[in-house]
Amino acid sequence: MDLGIAGKTALVAASTGGLGLAVARALSAEGVRVAVIGRRRDRAKEIAADLHTAYGTGAIAIEADLTTPEGIESAVEQTVADLGPIDILVLNGPGPKPGAAATLSSEDIAAAFELLVKPHHALISQVLPGMRERRWGRILAVGSSGVVAPLPNLAVSNTGRAALAGYLKTLAAEVALDSVTVNMLLPGRIATDRVAELDQAAAKRRGTTVEDIQLESRKTIPARRYGEPEEFGAAAAFLCSAPASYITGVALRCDGGLIRSL
Ligand SMILES: NC(=O)c1ccc[n+]([C@@H]2O[C@H](COP(=O)([O-])OP(=O)(O)OC[C@H]3O[C@@H](n4cnc5c(N)ncnc54)[C@H](OP(=O)(O)O)[C@@H]3O)[C@@H](O)[C@H]2O)c1
Repeated sequence: MDLGIAGKTALVAASTGGLGLAVARALSAEGVRVAVIGRRRDRAKEIAADLHTAYGTGAIAIEADLTTPEGIESAVEQTVADLGPIDILVLNGPGPKPGAAATLSSEDIAAAFELLVKPHHALISQVLPGMRERRWGRILAVGSSGVVAPLPNLAVSNTGRAALAGYLKTLAAEVALDSVTVNMLLPGRIATDRVAELDQAAAKRRGTTVEDIQLESRKTIPARRYGEPEEFGAAAAFLCSAPASYITGVALRCDGGLIRSL
């Protein structure tokens, strides 16, 4: 299938590793000009150079801390200056620290909003007006299966991502007439550094091995394995594509069947 997005410009937040990188790769493979963004300048440069070599799409590297207003502003400015107006905005960022709901502090609750809602809202605020004017846009947020079924011991994540989901669903209806789609893609357990860290933390907390934690985790997934980042990237590229024009306001799970509800 031709995804019809060759030559478009994408800002992929937090794309120097994990899921963001997988999305940047999948979009580049479709001929999209991608801004690779993260705090690690050298890593971003290396990835942008690799993508350019592989797909000849002119990917660029941007060093930015996307949890700060300055970082967000400079990421948008540099993308527009080097690649042109942003057609595809992929919202992604660091995951919050684990923790139980019963012991959440007021700082933790504030952090859920600071980390998981505010930066995404700020990016959208800067990019959406241009998309609406040009009457084409794709906004895709990396979420979590915790949006559908809150995950144990990830109270900050469950709280912040649910708030983001509510905001994006509201937005999707407001901008549909401008041919801008707004969706979420919800990973279950995709094999990235973050998931490896969470498994290590769980092993430590429960006094067991990482292997045992992974085995236990895989048993809960009907596919009996963690997802590959490439599988997540492929689903993301489709949601950002031209043929996905009638899909908006959805939260699509990419989880090997982990979440059992319809
Ligand atoms: N993997 C899963 O199965 C899964 C499941 C549910 C939810 N999630 C969520 O999906 C998101 C991505 O997860 P992941 O597994 O891809 O994580 P990851 O492997 O840890 O990658 C995180 C990426 O975010 C970048 N980053 C971190 N802090 C940043 C900042 N302040 N500004 C800009 N970039 C920043 C990192 O690059 P730099 O170090 O270069 O900044 C890296 O590229 C997280 O929010 C995570 O909680 C993932």
